[in-house]
Amino acid sequence: MKTTIIDFDVQRYDFRKWAREVLSAEHLETIHLFDKIKLLNKNPTCNQLSDAFSSIIDTYRQFIINVIAKNFGDIANYQSPPSFRFHYCGYGSSVFHRDRDFGVKQGKVNVWIPLTDVWGDNSLWVESEEGSRNHKPISLKYGQALIFDGVNMNHGSKINTTSSTRISFDFRFQPGCGPAVPTSY
Ligand SMILES: [Fe+2]
Repeated sequence: MKTTIIDFDVQRYDFRKWAREVLSAEHLETIHLFDKIKLLNKNPTCNQLSDAFSSIIDTYRQFIINVIAKNFGDIANYQSPPSFRFHYCGYGSSVFHRDRDFGVKQGKVNVWIPLTDVWGDNSLWVESEEGSRNHKPISLKYGQALIFDGVNMNHGSKINTTSSTRISFDFRFQPGCGPAVPTSY
């Protein structure tokens, strides 16, 4: 599939407002200044946002059905909860890889949603064609989502040399006959 960027209604699906409340931080971009928060978010499966996910699960499901399925067709299943990532200033976030290298099956589609504006070294870098290794950073504003074939397209992140921490979440879905069922993976 072609790498695609879509816009969504941030009033209706305000994941950022929810994250600000959970983290008690008005400005997510400067959250690296708060050591306490940094220590509490060590990895995607151990952080404050995944712990608080149940409070936004209905909005998330509506987003899957009304935004993702509307744009990409019926969904057989989708990852719930999604994976939350903190890409702090001065640090890396993910090595370069294809998801198939980690056993993800063909056919799954990746969705990546930043809660902070992203560009350059605080973003995700994705190759434009499978095997080309010509990674470029994805520039997105809050309210945009990246949909791409992470199973086959090499992607990853670099050391965040900007002064803006990136917080994002991502998930995979499986196109196919519904109703869409949440899965852990
Ligand atoms: Fe990946």
